[in-house]
Amino acid sequence: MESIGVLMMCPMSSYLENELEKRFNLVRFWNSPEKSVLLETHRNSIRAVVGNASAGADAQLIDDLPKLEIVSSFSVGLDKIDLGKCKEKGIRVTNTPDVLTEDVADLAIGLILALLRRLCECDRYVRSGKWKTGDFKLTTKFSGKTVGIIGLGRIGTAIAKRAEAFSCPINYYSRRVKSDVGYKYYPTVVELAKNSDILVVACPLTDETRHIVNGEVMDALGAKGVLINIGRGPHVDEQELVKALREGRLGGAALDVFEQEPHVPEELFGLENVVLLPHVGSGTVETRNAMADLVVGNLEAHFSGKSLLTPVV
Ligand code: DGY
Repeated sequence: MESIGVLMMCPMSSYLENELEKRFNLVRFWNSPEKSVLLETHRNSIRAVVGNASAGADAQLIDDLPKLEIVSSFSVGLDKIDLGKCKEKGIRVTNTPDVLTEDVADLAIGLILALLRRLCECDRYVRSGKWKTGDFKLTTKFSGKTVGIIGLGRIGTAIAKRAEAFSCPINYYSRRVKSDVGYKYYPTVVELAKNSDILVVACPLTDETRHIVNGEVMDALGAKGVLINIGRGPHVDEQELVKALREGRLGGAALDVFEQEPHVPEELFGLENVVLLPHVGSGTVETRNAMADLVVGNLEAHFSGKSLLTPVV
């Protein structure tokens, strides 16, 4: 398969890069300052694109690569891929579901605890030597709080299961009511927020879910409520979030994702009631390697005429 051109959009994992390099003619998109020259040079040899949560395959890239057969995403989220265009052109698409569910759900619980128990602030307090001189403010209990989850798919369900272990009642909003789960369904995100202490975003990003957490939802969650986002940055209206936090209309926010990554609104840096992470939901060695194996496995399957391991389109 050495002659098959695979375009990797950005650095994602050195393990993945090595595995791709062993099998394919790997072209690194980020290595060339002149993207148009790179695409022109390789336009007739690139048959696969490997993207991720920050760089996928948009309509322009798909048009620039006439021999493209498959887009294999090193992510479960597909929002950076023009799925409509892929379908139209018969280009296959794969992602990395399941292998990252536990890590992302673990991180959501970690963010809840970090925010409510002020773990990052505690750490700063000890490191700065203030422990010797002052008292640390009391924090907020997690066990027993009502958790509202937007999106009860694989990751949302895994978060709910973990929160149940903290004796938390679970509410959810989803496109469909799930009759067998035993959690309380709310038909709108505003109602979900009104009836929850902790609101967790865990749905895919689509046109319908962009800014699903807007100012009205933040007000419904209220001054004692907190927001956790492990989905995608554009799920949350960041300008409204900054306003709600500054004005004390929202209790706090813990965010693993942002609207324009790696840009983070500077106003958030000065606030103590926020926790900010650099999109690391799936960022463990074990999971990233399992994701890489799926990307490579899907490409190998495709180019040897076998069934894809995790097909989307
Ligand atoms: C995903 O897989 O969509 C994650 O956000 C990447 O870490």
